[in-house]
Amino acid sequence: MNLKFKEIYDNSIKNPNKFWEDVSKDIFWYKKPSKILNQSNPPFYKWFEDGTTNTCYNALDIHIQNGLGDKTALIYDSPITGKKSKFTFSNLKEKVAKFAWALQNQGVGKGDRVIIYMPMIPEAVMAMLACGRIGAIHSVVFGGFAANELASRIDDSKAKILVTASCGFEPGRTVEYKPLVDKALEIAKHKPEKLILYQREGHEVDLNNKNEISWNDAIKSAQEVDCVEMNANDFAYILYTSGTTGIPKGIVRDIGGHIVALKWTMKNIYNINQDDVWWSASDIGWIVGHSYIVYAPLFKGCTTVLFEGKPVGTPDAGVFWRVISEYKIKSLFTAPTAFRAIKKEDPEGKFFSKYDLSCFESLFLAGERADPDTLKWAESLLKVPVIDHWWQTETSWAISSNCTGIEMQKTKYGSACMPVPGYDVKVLKSDKSEAKANEMGDIVVKLPLPPGTFPTLWNADERYKKTYMSNYEGYYQTYDAGHIDEDGYVWIMSRTDDIINVAGHRLSTGAIEEVLSEHKSVAECAVLGIADKLKGQLPIGLLALKSGVKQTNEEIIKECIQMVRNKVGPVAAFKIAIIVKRLPKTRSGKILRGTIRKIADKEVYKMPATIDDPAILDEIRQDLINNKILKR
Ligand code: COA
Ligand code: AMP
Repeated sequence: MNLKFKEIYDNSIKNPNKFWEDVSKDIFWYKKPSKILNQSNPPFYKWFEDGTTNTCYNALDIHIQNGLGDKTALIYDSPITGKKSKFTFSNLKEKVAKFAWALQNQGVGKGDRVIIYMPMIPEAVMAMLACGRIGAIHSVVFGGFAANELASRIDDSKAKILVTASCGFEPGRTVEYKPLVDKALEIAKHKPEKLILYQREGHEVDLNNKNEISWNDAIKSAQEVDCVEMNANDFAYILYTSGTTGIPKGIVRDIGGHIVALKWTMKNIYNINQDDVWWSASDIGWIVGHSYIVYAPLFKGCTTVLFEGKPVGTPDAGVFWRVISEYKIKSLFTAPTAFRAIKKEDPEGKFFSKYDLSCFESLFLAGERADPDTLKWAESLLKVPVIDHWWQTETSWAISSNCTGIEMQKTKYGSACMPVPGYDVKVLKSDKSEAKANEMGDIVVKLPLPPGTFPTLWNADERYKKTYMSNYEGYYQTYDAGHIDEDGYVWIMSRTDDIINVAGHRLSTGAIEEVLSEHKSVAECAVLGIADKLKGQLPIGLLALKSGVKQTNEEIIKECIQMVRNKVGPVAAFKIAIIVKRLPKTRSGKILRGTIRKIADKEVYKMPATIDDPAILDEIRQDLINNKILKR
């Protein structure tokens, strides 16, 4: 470990109070916090509890006050519609402040929840920032989720208002949001009072009653409203993420710690300064989009890019290089799957050679493990450092990374580098003892977690404590397994729960199983993630049928696939289901999903000692071969 990094890291762990007090001086506070960390009620820690501030002020107003009003804050580039636009900090503030007025005009105030279900358009960013401006709590729902998922988020958050758009665009199809929203509102027990809908040009939809207002009508006579002074421990947002059951977990973010930590990461992890242009090619519906399309770059005062397109097909595998060269982007953050998609289409980098990328300095990958092949391919093409770093919705910023703004570490392919300052990462074994170097175990973080992480779950303190903070007392359980090597590098190998990562999207196999079990012909089922060259993992469903079923296997499979698409959403990419006679189980009735996955991925597996009937594994193996999932 290099000395400069080591010193900073050690300080952050030995004296977190002092470390974060110093960092907190870099943001705008109405009232500076005098208490830095309250540890009196573990595992509920409070950072900066008597400070007051505002998210939107730190993202926009502060930069205008500092003379950067005419600087570009947001670049919108939409190869899917052919539109491009730029917003300076002043433009963006004006639009945000007017939409904040519109929200207030519809009765939204401090602490009220606002669901944002929108495509990747500037108005989505404006809606998020407008919530921050007036102290409302936003909950952005990814557009690829179905009505059911939207409904469960409306119910859990008890949102006062829903903000949406007439449609989104996916290659080859238009995603009509209004019917999805209508259906979600029908399913949800809680009914938001109003719907504000942004009409996309040429794709306007009918609004049906006085509670449905178009975005333009909502801002018609708007004045700019000022930022509201908020307590550091008030919540900025809720972001729902997959849990081990079908009920999503509402990860909450408190305001003060979020601003302090995220602003710090821009320089220290990503080496981004205020004059730089930064691009995170994700979606605002995911944590990467929250933190690195919207908040961190705007807190830093640099320029951020909002890209409505795909790495391939909009129009081609050169679009990332076009965007980087057109806006002189210094660093890009995306998921490895995006690079696998580009590599598949353009393995020799023919598109790449058409553009001048002399501005480009580094590529950051996260969301899933960056496989060494893809990482090396990107490195040889780009000739810049390619950095795999590890984090989660729960933390909102990287737990382990190469901190390029502090001191560059050497790359070890397959590792997510070293713990970032603030995170005391350990590997613990099931007997709770600490693993030796290179020994596998559960990856945990010693409490307290640094600022910007999740102080609790929305309305679910007990679930927070039980799920994350109980198995290893005094530690946060990440549900990732792996090891730390002799040089302190972290290696993330797999999840220890039923979460799978499909094209960098976090999905619960339990949630898919819940949907499949509802099919009238299905007696029981198992969903697991099998290795996929493009998406990292793909869900497959194994269905055991009830006796006397009249439908054909083909009909059942077709209906099951459609049910998952309708109830979880297209993002689940659930396209493979097979019918099996029986599922392998332990003697106590637990389905051996892990063993099936190993068979499907051709990994070595041990016959589970508690297996009820070992012959079923051979049957399953044969089913996988017959269905061409497993090659002989
Ligand atoms: N709204 C509605 N539908 C959406 C959507 C959205 N915002 N995003 C994705 N979908 C749909 C897609 O259209 C697709 O539907 P289909 O079954 O009708 O084709 C389905 O969800 C699966 O989408 P995706 O997993 O994105 O697969 P893809 O085949 O369309 O594209 C990649 C593959 C690799 C190009 C794509 O996954 C990608 O760009 N990934 C980047 C990674 C990323 O952004 N990760 C986020 C976390 S960092
Ligand atoms: P999400 O909450 O959607 O960001 O997903 C978080 C999960 O994605 C983590 O718990 C990991 O399982 C996985 N993940 C994210 N980044 C990495 C990485 N760099 N290497 C390995 N797994 C990762």
